[in-house]
Amino acid sequence: MPATVLDGNLFASQIKAEVAAEVQQLAASGLRPGLAAILVGHNPASQTYVRSKVRACEQLGIYSEMVTPPETSTTAEIVALIEQLNARDEIDGILVQLPLPAHIDAKRVLLAVSPQKDVDGFHPANVGNLCTQRPGLVPCTPAGCMEILRRANIAIEGQEAVVVGRSDIVGKPMAMLLTNANATVTICHSKTKDLPSVCRRGDILVAAIGRPGFITTEFIKPGATILDVGINYITNSVLFERYFKGDEKREKQFAEKKYTIIGDCDPRVARIAGACTPVPGGVGKLTIAMLMSNTVKAAKLRRGAKQPQTEPAVQG
Ligand code: GUN
Repeated sequence: MPATVLDGNLFASQIKAEVAAEVQQLAASGLRPGLAAILVGHNPASQTYVRSKVRACEQLGIYSEMVTPPETSTTAEIVALIEQLNARDEIDGILVQLPLPAHIDAKRVLLAVSPQKDVDGFHPANVGNLCTQRPGLVPCTPAGCMEILRRANIAIEGQEAVVVGRSDIVGKPMAMLLTNANATVTICHSKTKDLPSVCRRGDILVAAIGRPGFITTEFIKPGATILDVGINYITNSVLFERYFKGDEKREKQFAEKKYTIIGDCDPRVARIAGACTPVPGGVGKLTIAMLMSNTVKAAKLRRGAKQPQTEPAVQG
């Protein structure tokens, strides 16, 4: 039986509708959440992501500002800009789009963001909050993965979860969220021995390594749930044929655009898995929805609005 498709578009639109309703409620008490997105330089992928984030704010009634300091900015200049945003009451969330240009000290920059406004959840204070199960802001992509599992009614407690990738942005917080939800978690990386057999333990497998099609059918426990975080571009026709030969929709798109997007999983994992996220249209769609959710959460936590009984997003 083919795997159930975990539809990121559906879950993201549910979350956005919930956030929009909260924004309306807050508006009634005179509070409008605000997000500042800092984009340094001209990385085309980053420009696309930040524009999508600003557009989502507009759709949901969240105030937004896109701040675009030049590529030549120094670490001190970016830190000073963040300090100005920290001091502005109408700004609830500050995100610094990564990667930053190589000459900028990203760790210093992320440390400058007020933990209360850290809607990416990258500040060490929020990393600590997550590790110690305190309220705080959780990185958007892992939080989105948890929402997919929750909304698709996939059991986590007592399950074996394998996270492939140990980045600060996805792998590590993902492993912590799954641990907090009582899964038995294994984190794998490039030095892990016999990766396929470790991955085959996973009732839940999260692929977050940034390597196109790397996770193949031999990595998959039959019936497992696969969350594919990868967003990789394929422009090479040999690779395209390997993964997508016979997929008419993809073939048409590849002929027109000269690229297609593939995750970290070979699409054929869907033959073995019980459920999996497609790429595109899977985990990626949740990231921006969770950013919106975090912005509203930050506004409520900092500006003292009453917390609802049920949180829109799982914390841990
Ligand atoms: N670059 C890649 N992923 C992210 C993310 O979640 N947040 C930010 N700010 N930059 C990123």
